[in-house]
Amino acid sequence: MRTFYITTPIYYPNARPHVGSAYTTIVCDVLARYKRMCGYDVAFLTGTDEHGEKLERSAEAAGQSPSQFVAEKRKLFVQLWEKLGIPVSVYGGTATHGCAGTGKSACATPDGKPDSLRFIYTTHPDHEKSVQRMLRLAQKNSPGVIYKGQYQGRYCVSDERYIADGSDPVNCDICGRPAELISEENYFFKLSAFQNRLLELYEKHPEFVQPEYRRNEVKSFVKGGLRDISVSRKRLKWGIPWPDDPEQVFYVWYDALTSYMTGIGYAQGENGNEEFRKYWRNKPGESEIVHMLGKDILRFHAVYWPAFIMAAYPDQPEMLPSTVFAHGWIYYEQDKMSKSKGNVVYPEPIVDALDSFGAPGNDALRYYLLREAPFGQDTSFSYEGLIQRYNSDLANGLGNLASRVLAMVHQYFESRVPQPSPSHSDSPANALRTVARPNIWAAVGNQDARELGQYNELKFSDALQTIWRLISRVDAYLVQRKPWVLARNPDQRQELADVLYDACEALRVILILAHPVMPNATAQIWVQMGQNTLLGEQQFDCLDWGQLAPGTALGRVVGVFPRLETATTLAKLDEFAEADRNRDTRMGAFIKPEAKVDDRSPQSPVRNKPKEAFIPVQTEKTPEATPTPAPEPRAPSPQPPPPTLISIEDFAKVDMRVGEVKSAERVPGATKLLKLLVDIGSEVRQVVAGIAEYYEPEKLIGMKVVLVTNLQPRKLRGVESNGMIVAASVGEQGRPVLVTFKEEVENGARLK
Ligand code: MSP
Repeated sequence: MRTFYITTPIYYPNARPHVGSAYTTIVCDVLARYKRMCGYDVAFLTGTDEHGEKLERSAEAAGQSPSQFVAEKRKLFVQLWEKLGIPVSVYGGTATHGCAGTGKSACATPDGKPDSLRFIYTTHPDHEKSVQRMLRLAQKNSPGVIYKGQYQGRYCVSDERYIADGSDPVNCDICGRPAELISEENYFFKLSAFQNRLLELYEKHPEFVQPEYRRNEVKSFVKGGLRDISVSRKRLKWGIPWPDDPEQVFYVWYDALTSYMTGIGYAQGENGNEEFRKYWRNKPGESEIVHMLGKDILRFHAVYWPAFIMAAYPDQPEMLPSTVFAHGWIYYEQDKMSKSKGNVVYPEPIVDALDSFGAPGNDALRYYLLREAPFGQDTSFSYEGLIQRYNSDLANGLGNLASRVLAMVHQYFESRVPQPSPSHSDSPANALRTVARPNIWAAVGNQDARELGQYNELKFSDALQTIWRLISRVDAYLVQRKPWVLARNPDQRQELADVLYDACEALRVILILAHPVMPNATAQIWVQMGQNTLLGEQQFDCLDWGQLAPGTALGRVVGVFPRLETATTLAKLDEFAEADRNRDTRMGAFIKPEAKVDDRSPQSPVRNKPKEAFIPVQTEKTPEATPTPAPEPRAPSPQPPPPTLISIEDFAKVDMRVGEVKSAERVPGATKLLKLLVDIGSEVRQVVAGIAEYYEPEKLIGMKVVLVTNLQPRKLRGVESNGMIVAASVGEQGRPVLVTFKEEVENGARLK
């Protein structure tokens, strides 16, 4: 059986996980479920990164020993994943799950729960073995790759990374704080020796770093030359001991990255246990290892990690991961989440608030996060957006379709799936079958090549749009065939059976396809359809039309997605978030507010966000502040007012950048508006532009445009716009014509 090993980063447990951290885990869970439904043997790992100065300091501030502190905080992660419907097996069974009670000292295989999320933590004694083993192998197999040297440099304690060599004062380019000067003798890893091997890896295996634009960043970084890196610390106590040198501990990233191996049994046995040898194999077509992570930690995964492995396992390319995929960040309504601002979004109160209305909070959150933006790019979280998506796609879309179809089967066919006429199901003229075959199977779960679909390419938003297009087609089919009218005429009984059989069959296909994203809600509808198999055990290759057994007795139909009233739901979300914050405060939030760790921790979603993006330039909302306003017919003015002259300084206040349109889609319910994601070099911006009547969204993708980047963010039809696309206003109707370039211009170039 083909294997698939997927990992999330291991999280720092000094901050409670928020929606941003939950995002990576949810995405990986979707992928793990999808791969299982494609017939793969899947291992899925997460965990906590428990060493380092920051943890040591947080523990001290909390008046606890580091080990007490991390053990307590680790539980919050386990609890959250379980609350999000992802059962967890903690490595070694020291928590509530895993091998506890089996008599084994440590266990990498989740007992009885092979499909659960494996959870590794770096203070487990097995992990120490793994890290030391990797180092010893590197020393043995690549002589000279580890050497002792004197390091002097600027180091950011908060982000645990070297900022610059030498003693010149410098601020951390991530958190902006002054970096500390350190000087110590420690062990170095000869990263410089890996430049060519890494470049060759990126060339030969373009799938190694994804998406492509991130691969290009990594390539230019490596081409620019690599410096050796220090991989041990003298000053730190809270770390894994360096073999044969009690004065040193391992650098946290060497320690953390190796956890991907420990988590599946690397420490056990000579070369890892059976599980490890099964999953840790990069053999295209047979066995894949995929690391999913945020864009901020790409360099560690795409440069350091393969080099560490190459040093320990030279000439064993199957030991390298298959893919390192860097996704974007989640912002809160275009703004940074920051504890001091009190706008960090946590998943628990969202799930609880939606649950309190009888809506499946977990599934709604998962659907929203995956559907909202193309995977890989930054996206903005908003409560309004969540409710809007829920109502339009889940309550009105899938939920409404399921209830209608199943209610009609109950009413017209004594609660049993009707028998279609013999030739009907296979008939190429069967409207839904014809729609489903090329569009759905090819796009989402190609039944021949099974895994070659949009899910597989991590195009989650596209995959969901494809599935929802089928939902719309079924709706349209029902409107066209009017089963409620057919039901009035006994002569049309067979036609009625054909129509409702088709609708049920389409629903079956839709539930299978949507299951990885919404495991609970789809499983509930599955039961209502009278299915007694587990939906998660269905395979993507059983999407062949006509597999629903006629005569199946339906279950009781209960609406799974009740409609949410916006104002009441927003109030409930606020109320639950507030109660959650108060609970945090009562329990003594483990990050002291004055330390503002959230602002600078790698968990902060803001880190590379250019500060100028938030500088308010205009003091009032002038028409220019509107992102490419929808053109209004203008009355010709007989005497245009004389133009007001501005100084060059005034003009210089406007920051205009070259950007590339990465995605474009219509804003639901607004005929004039398009939502665009524009790459301006340093980041990808979401902008709403009033050009929908003049530009087809698909045609804009890849187009170079000019973006005013320092306008105050504003909302159009509830969608955040963070900038304005520059367009000429042509003719009496003010037709917008986008400004673009004849020559190749790099993203982010400033217009002066
Ligand atoms: N401990 C390291 C990872 C070591 S992996 C061998 C670390 N931890 S972290 O807790 O700071 O971040 C974990 C992951 O969460 C990163 O991939 C980071 O990008 C992601 N996110 C943190 N905040 C996020 C958002 N606001 N949005 C999306 N992902 C975010 O780095």
